[in-house]
Amino acid sequence: MLKEIYSKKLVTANEAVTKIKSGDRVVIGHACSEPIRLVEAMVQNKDNYRNIEIVHMVAMGKSEYTKPEMKGHFKHNALFVGGSTRKAVNENRADYIPSFFYEIPRLFRDGNIPVDVALIQVSTPDKHGYCSFGLSNDYTKPAAEEATIVIAEINDKMPRTLGDNFIHISDIDYIVESSTELIELNQPKIGEVEKAIGENCASLVEDGSTLQLGIGAIPDAALLFLKDKKDLGIHSEMFSDGVVELVEAGVITNKMKTIHKGKMIVTFMMGTKRLYDFIDNNPAVELYPVDYVNNPAIIAQNHKMLSINSCLQVDLMGQVSSESIGLKQFSGTGGQVDYVRGASMAKDGKSIIAIPSTASKGKLSRIVPFLDQGSAVTTSRNDVNYIITEYGIANLRGKTLKERAKALIEIAHPKFRDKLIKEYERRFSAKY
Ligand code: COA
Repeated sequence: MLKEIYSKKLVTANEAVTKIKSGDRVVIGHACSEPIRLVEAMVQNKDNYRNIEIVHMVAMGKSEYTKPEMKGHFKHNALFVGGSTRKAVNENRADYIPSFFYEIPRLFRDGNIPVDVALIQVSTPDKHGYCSFGLSNDYTKPAAEEATIVIAEINDKMPRTLGDNFIHISDIDYIVESSTELIELNQPKIGEVEKAIGENCASLVEDGSTLQLGIGAIPDAALLFLKDKKDLGIHSEMFSDGVVELVEAGVITNKMKTIHKGKMIVTFMMGTKRLYDFIDNNPAVELYPVDYVNNPAIIAQNHKMLSINSCLQVDLMGQVSSESIGLKQFSGTGGQVDYVRGASMAKDGKSIIAIPSTASKGKLSRIVPFLDQGSAVTTSRNDVNYIITEYGIANLRGKTLKERAKALIEIAHPKFRDKLIKEYERRFSAKY
């Protein structure tokens, strides 16, 4: 019976993409779960489409649908901007949709962004006919639930990950088989600055804390300094290879978690084959949709919740800009505010924004009197808690404007402190 259902739905990638019609909104599976063969086939079929809207978040593929020659065929509306889409967004050939990550499924459900077609990539079905969403549940599962047509690339290399993380083959309209190598995220280089920041972050981690870690060198550097901690847990938007080491070393046990005890809760994952082997059929790792995992009210149920994220600029009031440099959209809000708020609401929770004190090879201070004109505020001055650089830790919670400015100047790069002090004295008509 299951075999019959499966074979009736089986088509080639080229056949599958003919089901997409001009004017459709197509949501693409997220990050390292991007269905590469389906996206390639859709782009190759471009001459048969007018005005297809592509909605995607962290695009780890080539994003060829954003190229200038795709005008009229595809229009990309990004939920996050990255290396393959940044140019198109900033040249106004594509656009950006501001949203908290945890609210994206609601945009699909409430009719703000109705989904015509979901292009997803999943694992092979189990004996009951269920395919796992593998590396990305996040908005991918909700999009598949809302879509009029679901086209799935069933990849035998996709790990079978657990949680509320499955789709039955009867809920898929067209199946395309593949054995494409999964997209991997290479591990970042960790330099001396990142190590100093990581050590400062790790100094705030208490035994029994539950962690959320963003992507990149700083969260990975923090992990390097957690080797002596005990019984840490994970409740995170995503995690990567660094976490595997701490599980194997017995540091991450999830034993002290106040919800989902014994489990690492996550909504998507990016890493190398090492991570993908670790999460395959692993009952200690569970994926749920992002409107659950990143919901601040759920995050807040974890006692000693500690989040570590990064930003581009912080002004002297503690306003954090993480996604744009002036009017240039650099990345996106992602789950930063979800975790800043969730951790703040949690019993004994802490949220950290960790940054190198400078940018552009030391030419610019990231701690600035004013955000660049046009920059979006990602984390507001009311939400901000700890700011960390390689020079120290500033706890802004409950601090006055003057106290905040002082605390931030103390962790700025020494070569920019005089300028910041002048601004302090001008602003507050007071000696520093
Ligand atoms: N002015 C000008 N350029 C700046 C700058 C500033 N204030 N701050 C950073 N840059 C430049 C850097 O110099 C770097 O360019 P380079 O590589 O040519 O030197 C580039 O912008 C990227 O900066 P960097 O800090 O290295 O980026 P990152 O990869 O560590 O990402 C964020 C940092 C803030 C963009 C990223 O963490 C993000 O998008 N955060 C928001 C979403 C989020 O927090 N999600 C939750 C966790 S997944």
